[in-house]
Amino acid sequence: MIFFNNNNKYKKNLFFLSGLLCRVFILSLSRLFFICIKLIMKKIAIFASGYGSNFEAMIEAVRKDELHAELVLLVSDKPGCRAVECAKKHQINTWVFYPKNYICKEDFEQEIVRELRTRGIEWIVLAGYMRLVGKILLNEYAGRILNIHPSLLPSYPGLHAIERAYANGDKRFGITIHLVDAGMDTGQIIEQHYFDIIGSESLEEVEKKVHILEHKYYPAVVEKMLSLQT
Ligand code: GRF
Repeated sequence: MIFFNNNNKYKKNLFFLSGLLCRVFILSLSRLFFICIKLIMKKIAIFASGYGSNFEAMIEAVRKDELHAELVLLVSDKPGCRAVECAKKHQINTWVFYPKNYICKEDFEQEIVRELRTRGIEWIVLAGYMRLVGKILLNEYAGRILNIHPSLLPSYPGLHAIERAYANGDKRFGITIHLVDAGMDTGQIIEQHYFDIIGSESLEEVEKKVHILEHKYYPAVVEKMLSLQT
């Protein structure tokens, strides 16, 4: 009888232990799976100077599993901008700088490159970064810097593109997603999307429609570009 009790207890312990081991194994396996996914995913830095709605669109696309990338860092030249707040809210690292604290563009770009290298960044995605990218960043990330512009380039490069097109009486508005070169919105065009208006729309309505296009297509193009790169 004593022997029977001991045997029963032994079986119970064995059952408990194997259950525990099973759980530990499954947990480690899923952890390993996520580590592997993270290792495979391309690491991106977003550069922004303003509101950050395109940055948010990227975050949302990652969340929805539509963009398979790791948004590792937000770089900004405007410490108080909304994009920086947004990064903090989503626990994304920020590297914020005051351009005035540097003698020239080369100086701050060298620091940016150092930071990007440390974090293993593979692609730069400009999302309302209000500066021309200089040769230090261009050399380091040749062919791996993307930008979005709220016009159908080559029309209306530079600032206030939507306002200028609207003031000009244009009926067709759109967006351009392009690779970045040393010029002002002159890099190789990857995709353009547009819509037409009949003429009674206000500037605000047109701007809203342009931003809807941006948020829809920019994450998709980033995804496409990352998947093309081996
Ligand atoms: C967008 O219109 C984009 O096309 C341009 O800058 C604007 C940034 O907007 N490059 P947001 O900061 O992403 O809201």
